[in-house]
Amino acid sequence: MRMTATIRRAVFPAAGLGTRFLPATKAQPKEMLVLVDKPVIQYGVEEAVQSGVPNIVIVTGRGKNAIEDHFDVAVELESFLQQRGKDALLEQIRKITEPINVAYVRQGEPLGLGHAVLATRNLIGDEPFAVILGDDVIDASPPALRQMIEVYERVRGPVLAVERVAAEEVSSYGIVATDDREDLGRRVHRVKDLVEKPPLDRAPSNLAIIGRYILTPDIFGALEATARDRTGEIQLTDGLRRLLRERPIYVYEIDGVRHDTGNKLGFLKAIVYFALRRPDLAEPFRRYLESLDLKIGVNT
Ligand code: G1P
Repeated sequence: MRMTATIRRAVFPAAGLGTRFLPATKAQPKEMLVLVDKPVIQYGVEEAVQSGVPNIVIVTGRGKNAIEDHFDVAVELESFLQQRGKDALLEQIRKITEPINVAYVRQGEPLGLGHAVLATRNLIGDEPFAVILGDDVIDASPPALRQMIEVYERVRGPVLAVERVAAEEVSSYGIVATDDREDLGRRVHRVKDLVEKPPLDRAPSNLAIIGRYILTPDIFGALEATARDRTGEIQLTDGLRRLLRERPIYVYEIDGVRHDTGNKLGFLKAIVYFALRRPDLAEPFRRYLESLDLKIGVNT
């Protein structure tokens, strides 16, 4: 492996069907669902850019054209805004596309996260890269991916973001057991084992993999050799487990606030959270929230 210091590319798997948000996602990619006024995927892309990773690889599939349009220059819209003198909006629109280079890979069939990562092999080549799962929107300073790159530059091996989760959530995540004999510094641990979505009684801990990874190119060979799971999917966690036989893998507990926007409750919480951080909305929105009768039930 080349010893480059920098992570140059961030992969965004975005070929999933988004069934949890039907009917909203019948004709619209789930990545384009909006938190306040920005599509969910844009939060992740901005995080990559702010982390010094402007090369974006989006793994798409059928029905995902809106993502490509969103990250493409909108010539007509820009000239309309220019003619009307709407400079602030124009700047916002340009800021979406100007700092990034985007490439798209089609996944064909959505056969799991490991399969999505494998689809980027030719584009990524022989260098380390990041994977960002857009569902996990992380408010952090420095940005979550930046924090991870700093860890990668120290340990020179795969780094997975993790967070402690409640017992009832353990079976929804990749779960990691750590070996803490070596002192790797605050928030960094070496992985002893990892298992995809274990039942609670078989989970080695409550340390869950969240949607940020820094991977090395040897993950591709490991994924190729990884068997499909019971549902026919190739899991990234299973590929990493295989890779662990060959090299050390690390986890890092992100310093920030993570929102899992991939489920309805998490999505609603994220909207409230980000709205309260917006200077133009925070005060009236807070007043509205405070005025709510929170005892309203579904049948009242
Ligand atoms: C995926 C991974 C899982 C990880 C999770 C983080 O699962 O397979 O290991 O913990 O993302 O969000 P998904 O949420 O796509 O089912």
